[in-house]
Amino acid sequence: MTRVSLTMSFGIVVVTVALAAAQPFDSLALSLSKGELAQDRPQVGGGQRGADGGQQQPPPTNLQVLPKDMPRPQVVAAMQNISAALGVQCNYCHVMEGRGGRNDMASDEKPTKKTARQMMILSREIGEKLPAAVGKSADATTRVGCMTCHRGVPIPKLLPDVVTEAAANGGTTAGLAKYKELREKFYGAQAYDFSETGLLAVATRASAANKPDDALAYLRANLEYYPKSSRTYQAIAQIENAKGDKASAIKDLEKAVELDPNNVQARAQLQQLKGL
Ligand code: HEC
Ligand code: HEC
Repeated sequence: MTRVSLTMSFGIVVVTVALAAAQPFDSLALSLSKGELAQDRPQVGGGQRGADGGQQQPPPTNLQVLPKDMPRPQVVAAMQNISAALGVQCNYCHVMEGRGGRNDMASDEKPTKKTARQMMILSREIGEKLPAAVGKSADATTRVGCMTCHRGVPIPKLLPDVVTEAAANGGTTAGLAKYKELREKFYGAQAYDFSETGLLAVATRASAANKPDDALAYLRANLEYYPKSSRTYQAIAQIENAKGDKASAIKDLEKAVELDPNNVQARAQLQQLKGL
């Protein structure tokens, strides 16, 4: 997995977008960027240049947030970061029909492009306000870019939200199917939390919504992924105890303590249940 970090300045603000897990761009994007990126590295204030002997791409005509005179190679480099941050291709925002079709990067007809422009403004505003909020100089403050929130998906949501939403329609079966689907697609990426904590958080939410059986279903599923999860046994015990099944609760708390002797909370709960 390559990690590219690219800093580009636009306007007064410097926006850094970290590019994780290089996304495959469609062939049109590649051919667009090859010609353009074969040129110099993006340089601030650099002029428009053609690739060595290559065809000169026309300068951008519809920049409203990026500096109007930003050279096309720099624009494209920024665009590649944006695409990777959202896990999408160029045509998610641009009219790009490929060879023989309409290809109009300047057009604003896709709503996603207009949203992206507002998002650029929003990110810039956050960048302006953040240093004062944390009491640091602008240089020392973390830069907020698309990736900070999006982490490789166009509509960034936390795992418990996505799973709980799916469960609202199809119950825990649908919730767990969603979990599995996302896990297969995004495991190892930054998009969702598939650690031991992910389904625990989903279960906590189900518990809070007074759905103990749903919570149990999520926790049992979590044990299939993380059979040694002390916290999961502990959470199961809590629900069992609340349902009046003290014997099972004790058994599962013993398992929780056995798996993680440092789980002091589980140990205390166990002693309490045993009346020690
Ligand atoms: C998430 C939406 C989004 C994606 C994905 C995206 N762009 Fe853009 N693109 C924009 C926005 C918004 C602008 C206008 C920026 C502004 O107004 O300053 C823009 C502007 C451009 C421009 C300048 C067009 C002009 O003439 O004004 C080019 C060239 C461009 N993008 C290329 C690309 C390429 C190549 C890709 C794929 C690697 C890509 N874009 C992916 C949103 C996107
Ligand atoms: C502070 C967090 C945050 C930052 C920074 C951010 N976004 Fe977003 N963005 C969101 C959230 C949250 C949504 C989803 C809103 C919803 O539909 O519920 C979203 C939605 C979008 C959408 C609409 C997706 C769709 O299919 O409806 C686009 C396009 C987008 N963002 C582009 C960008 C770009 C480009 C950047 C960087 C310049 C960026 N965002 C930076 C939080 C952020």
